[in-house]
Amino acid sequence: MRLRRAGLALALASCGDAEPRLVSETQIVGDAIPSPLSEASAIAARGKTVFMDREGGHCVLCHAIEGLEAEFQGNVGPDLSAVGERLSPGQLRLRIVDYQIVRPGTLMPSYYRIHDLYQVGEEYQDQPILTAIEVEDLVAYLSERR
Ligand code: HEC
Repeated sequence: MRLRRAGLALALASCGDAEPRLVSETQIVGDAIPSPLSEASAIAARGKTVFMDREGGHCVLCHAIEGLEAEFQGNVGPDLSAVGERLSPGQLRLRIVDYQIVRPGTLMPSYYRIHDLYQVGEEYQDQPILTAIEVEDLVAYLSERR
């Protein structure tokens, strides 16, 4: 059941399956999603805004980046000041899309996923927290953190 559903992910996304997947398992290679989610060009400066924005990713709630001019930076998650040295763009992409795939039970929210979500507000039920291009902007921004 699980595999069948994954294989049909993109098709199901448009035909009302109860648990459509935005990213199919065939896009995942190891612990990475090598290909961009969007054909539009990613812009690192926009990713920085998404990183800080309460209405966007609000990643600063749990992560700090050296030199970032944000009032408050959390430490629930690892410091990301040099994350571009540790992780490839594909690894960053998968972690933002759905960290549960890397580490089930992690506190890090799944930002580009709409299946099997628990305790989400009604406004998020049929849409991911971030859009595909917002994820790409974040990947561009974080890749430059070295
Ligand atoms: C509620 C807290 C929380 C929020 C909000 C959050 N994260 Fe995380 N993040 C974590 C935790 C905890 C980890 C460590 C994962 C683990 O080991 O379970 C992590 C890990 C990561 C990693 C991997 C770092 C490494 O060194 O391996 C990246 C990249 C990352 N987060 C990016 C983001 C981005 C981008 C956002 C915003 C879109 C974000 N996180 C929002 C908690 C959070």
